[in-house]
Amino acid sequence: MKKLIVRGGKPLTGEITINGAKNSTVALIPAAIMADSEVVLEGVPDIQDVYSLIEILNDFNVKTHFENNVLRIDPREMVSIPMPTGKIQSLRASYYFMGATLAKFGEGVIGLPGGCFLGPRPIDQHLKAFRSLGVDVQDEFGVVTLTSPNGMKGARIYMDVVSVGATINCILAAVRAEGKTVIENAAREPEIIDLVTLLNKMGAQIKGAGTNVIRIEGVKELHGCNHTIIPDRIEAGTYITAAAAMGQGVKVNNVLFEHIESFIAKIMEMGVELEVGEDSIFVKPSRDLIAVSIKTLPYPGFATDLQQPLTPLLALAKGEGTITDTIYPQRVKHIPELNRMGADIRIDGDIIRTKGPAKLTGVEVKASDLRAGACLVIAGLIAEGETVITGVENILRGYSNIVGKLRDLGADIEMIEDDSPEI
Ligand code: EPU
Repeated sequence: MKKLIVRGGKPLTGEITINGAKNSTVALIPAAIMADSEVVLEGVPDIQDVYSLIEILNDFNVKTHFENNVLRIDPREMVSIPMPTGKIQSLRASYYFMGATLAKFGEGVIGLPGGCFLGPRPIDQHLKAFRSLGVDVQDEFGVVTLTSPNGMKGARIYMDVVSVGATINCILAAVRAEGKTVIENAAREPEIIDLVTLLNKMGAQIKGAGTNVIRIEGVKELHGCNHTIIPDRIEAGTYITAAAAMGQGVKVNNVLFEHIESFIAKIMEMGVELEVGEDSIFVKPSRDLIAVSIKTLPYPGFATDLQQPLTPLLALAKGEGTITDTIYPQRVKHIPELNRMGADIRIDGDIIRTKGPAKLTGVEVKASDLRAGACLVIAGLIAEGETVITGVENILRGYSNIVGKLRDLGADIEMIEDDSPEI
């Protein structure tokens, strides 16, 4: 078992460069199978979710080559085979193979996705969208079987909730549906714009990405292309938070301010000082931090994925702070762990209430999901003494070279293999 050992209290200085966005990459890789020639993705992060997707591609007989953050995907010999179990269940984003195999073959059998436990994560809107396009959907025993014997036909689809995944899956399928599809109440995340940019380069005809109405004119063929993935706004927010907590001047490169505006607004309200460059953000040493109230919302609101990484900073801040996660109210598994480190945080219904400033001390804690893991790494950087983090595989799913990046900034952090039982 891997463990992270963090000896806290070390000042962070220097520069760090953000990777291509995980949540873009995990949609772009399934999208690439729809081409009839090679797709080259650049800026692909070196994370476990990418390796899992590559294994799934290879099971579909798609050829891949991944080196130096460049992933070449050659889907020319891809075959339509059922994927009810196995690797497909190891990550949430594998559900994008539903939309992508529908577009490619007019069918698909996909086991329901795994991924982080954040409370209930239904896929009713994905299935509703497929049905609207004329797909026959059977959802039984954790396996979704999709067929479209009469072909897919464009439709007007209103999403009952704003969903990144359902918007993406609907776009993927509708690209090859006959005629026009209009998605109303679509999600507006930058990752959706990135996906649409790739698909349009492949020959799709999609308008409106980044607004809540997306219009798709179905096409018969999609071809290969080259595409560079947008920077990871969640990774950027994570390192900016670490820098705000422990930094003596840290420059975060390859970040687009516009993608994290609501996050930046909140940490500035807390007293964090920043200089925003064209594609970088310099985080100045923090003085006294003040607690604030945060509510997560669909983009461009405050991202739910940054709620957990930001919690240790809020615990350090003076006064009472609140976090209301309207997307995933049960995304709170980091709270008991932070409290064991000395934080004073209460879960009050759907509201997380922090009381600071807290003094954190290193203990053994468990990263139960990806962003809880990022939260505990930041808490470990702050804490006095040694923090031992288990559940590291959750962190490696989405943060590439987190140990190397933090060590470059001066953190005392290492990853070890340890088979002694968890406490
Ligand atoms: N929802 C439904 N029905 C659906 C789909 C979603 O009720 O059919 C609800 C969800 O339960 C949730 C809300 O709609 O309350 C939004 O969920 P969404 O579908 O947008 O989430 P997702 O597509 O499953 C992606 C990211 C998550 C991120 C959320 C919200 C990927 C692979 N995952 O998930 O990222 O938290 O959007 O922004 O893109 C992470 O990176 O740590 C992560 C969990």
